[in-house]
Amino acid sequence: MIHLPPVTLHGSLRDPLLGSISFLNEVMSRYPQAVSFAPGAPHPRLFEGIEPQRYVDRYLDHLIRDKGMSPDRARRLLFEYGPSRGLINDLVADALRRDHGIDAPADALVVTVGAQEALLLVLRALFGSPSDLLAVVSPCFSGITGAARLLDIDVVGVEETTQGVDLDALEAACVQAQAEGRRVRACYVAADFSNPGGVRMPLAVRQRLLRLARAKGFLVLEDNAYGFTAPPGHELPPLKALDRSGHVVHIGTFAKICFPGARVGYVVADQRTGSTGDRTLADELAAIKSMVTVNTSPLCQAVIGGMLLEHHGSLAEVSRAKATLYRHNLAHLVAALGRHLGDELPAVTWNRPEGGFFVTMNLPVIADRALLEVSAATYGVLWTPMSPFHLTDAGDRRLRLSCSYLEPREIETGVQRLATFLKKEIAS
Ligand SMILES: Cc1ncc(COP(=O)(O)O)c(C=O)c1O
Repeated sequence: MIHLPPVTLHGSLRDPLLGSISFLNEVMSRYPQAVSFAPGAPHPRLFEGIEPQRYVDRYLDHLIRDKGMSPDRARRLLFEYGPSRGLINDLVADALRRDHGIDAPADALVVTVGAQEALLLVLRALFGSPSDLLAVVSPCFSGITGAARLLDIDVVGVEETTQGVDLDALEAACVQAQAEGRRVRACYVAADFSNPGGVRMPLAVRQRLLRLARAKGFLVLEDNAYGFTAPPGHELPPLKALDRSGHVVHIGTFAKICFPGARVGYVVADQRTGSTGDRTLADELAAIKSMVTVNTSPLCQAVIGGMLLEHHGSLAEVSRAKATLYRHNLAHLVAALGRHLGDELPAVTWNRPEGGFFVTMNLPVIADRALLEVSAATYGVLWTPMSPFHLTDAGDRRLRLSCSYLEPREIETGVQRLATFLKKEIAS
């Protein structure tokens, strides 16, 4: 059999980042009895009431009654190739207007194969020159740094603070890039409960970030995967809702509010493109998508469309029960850490996010794969090492705990085990 040595393949394949998710899956499969705080995946109990056929029928009904399509045409739409831009754009655009105050026409949206594809398409479209830099908050979701790696895009990290992003450091990165004949083309942020940091950007910081984007001419890539978990009455407007100058590209997903197996996400890209401004960034993304996944599965879009229609076209309604469960789990996790660890180990600290799926913990020792093996094998508890989320070694002594995949009693048991592990291994 032909041998393809690593140096003959794309450099990203030698980057540990690309192996980090499969490593976690592999550890989880070896320790099925362990309580796992590793996956940031939706809770399986939430899939129980999902009836894809009912949602497909609901969507077909919408095409026939509201859009005036013949039953035959509507049915064929779900089984044929579809437009690269998507089928349910109007429903998503209406929901974004109603729930988030994002006012974008349906044709400024592209429905993607999850948010992950949206990230890849946006990077491919925006990064036209090797001198362009992508700024990311550090730590940040490895899906964006991984996509940048696949596309050979250089990344500059900007510290995440308790306020979301260090704007002075971001400005300094822009100035330095300029001095080197480069430019920060875009900055990736998750303003509402970042993964892994759990940080939410206050309104004033959102506005300052937008001012900086205008002043320095970079685009903001807003990833809103976890905004739906905000405590009711304490939601903040997404950056895109505050954006008057078209500097924000907004990316969302139905993975957490509906179910991840549908692989449906979206991107709002209303920026003008074309030599005369006669096109939009969404047109360009759809053109790229036609060469990547061609179109997002029409059947899957119909399921999501039907779910939205059943919930009065509202993202908030579709996600309400899930948001309650995740907030409950997160509060339980934070409380259990307080109960089982308290201030017994002063060198072990953690944050207390108000939303999202994640708590991050600082340890006085390296939290690497070897320590995870000990934690799993001896104490029956799994977590995620933070180093793949960081651009520097700042994540080496940090771990991420996810509350989304567990029942409260499992969280309790897991934290008990984690506390024993930390007291025995770390203290010694
Ligand atoms: C911050 C963030 N963005 C995007 C995604 C990916 O979403 P999708 O499953 O729609 O590709 C995730 C998944 O965990 C995430 O945490």
